[in-house]
Amino acid sequence: MGSKSLFLFFALLCFSVSLRFAFADNDEEADPGLVMNFYKDTCPQAEDIIREQVRLLYKRHKNTAFSWLRNIFHDCAVESCDASLLLDSTRRTLSEKEMDRSFGMRNFRYIEDIKEAVERECPGVVSCADILVLSGRDGIVALGGPYIPLKTGRRDGRKSRAELLEQYLPDHNESMSVVLERFSAIGIDTPGVVALLGAHSVGRTHCVKLVHRLYPEVDSALNPQHVEHMLHKCPDAIPDPKAVQYVRNDRGTPMVLDNNYYRNILDNKGLMLVDHQLAVDKRTKPFVKKMAKSQGYFFKEFSRAITILSENNPLTGTKGEIRKQCNVANKHH
Ligand code: HEM
Ligand SMILES: *[C@@H]1O[C@H](CO)[C@@H](O)[C@H](O)[C@H]1NC(C)=O
Repeated sequence: MGSKSLFLFFALLCFSVSLRFAFADNDEEADPGLVMNFYKDTCPQAEDIIREQVRLLYKRHKNTAFSWLRNIFHDCAVESCDASLLLDSTRRTLSEKEMDRSFGMRNFRYIEDIKEAVERECPGVVSCADILVLSGRDGIVALGGPYIPLKTGRRDGRKSRAELLEQYLPDHNESMSVVLERFSAIGIDTPGVVALLGAHSVGRTHCVKLVHRLYPEVDSALNPQHVEHMLHKCPDAIPDPKAVQYVRNDRGTPMVLDNNYYRNILDNKGLMLVDHQLAVDKRTKPFVKKMAKSQGYFFKEFSRAITILSENNPLTGTKGEIRKQCNVANKHH
């Protein structure tokens, strides 16, 4: 090879290398993934609007905050935080909301109020997946929980995962091994799981999810004082599906996200079998005790676990879409 062609060869090599770097840069620009304050240029008021809407809704209906918190689990733990949870049934597909694992979920129509308020300011910019996660974050604060800084930039999926719910979401009577395994698959460790179940410090559980611990005979692991209350609230072995019969998850401070849940479950007042197992299983019990003693430790682990959950496998960049309405995928022309 002559020196001229050698030079040409190197010049070409350098050119192609720099070209590849340029393209890599471009790719990153198109898809930064999840980042803090993703909407700072495209909709700087987005997070304030969501916070204000969550606050207004909470003033009218306190239980909206329970729903925003539960939504993070039910959307993000099922493959991806992509707001698939919010899609209504269509002629061809069943909504996740209709499945038994979503039993008792409520307030979905108020998510549309938040979305509409954001759309009025910045139409077509902010995803329902981000609204779901941020309303969860602000709901946690409304309930007296910690403020958790969370990234944004999620985009919305187009399909329901109704048929996959059981594969991802544990049942109320699941064994602790299965529960730990399901969460570990998305990077949440044992203290993280113990902290997340602290969400059952607020809200309610319907009798249908509890009667197997009361009838035909009472689960001897239950605190007798609590049994009396549960039997009073759930007087029928087969609850009338139309009657709204439920027990509050934490009788002491039912509206506050606090570590009272851990004291309850250590006192055998856990409502669901999974709550009870958490306080008994030797893998989780040490963390339950620690969280029962320290609200600060509970909040620290809760914040860490919510962050991981909220970043589970999101659609970013040009994947997915920005839904116009949270309950329906956009029409394709
Ligand atoms: C092993 C995991 C879990 C199981 C089996 C489970 C199951 C349930 C069940 C059966 C209910 C009662 C629904 C009803 O009867 O109305 C419930 C309520 C609730 N769950 Fe969970 N859950 C789990 C984890 C979580 C996590 C990780 C969160 C949030 C981070 C969460 C948040 C809530 C909230 C806030 C409520 C009360 C909802 C309301 O009152 O509207 N749960 N859960
Ligand atoms: C859990 O409870 C459901 C009813 O909600 C029941 O069908 C199922 O068999 C129970 N599973 C176990 C493992 O006991």
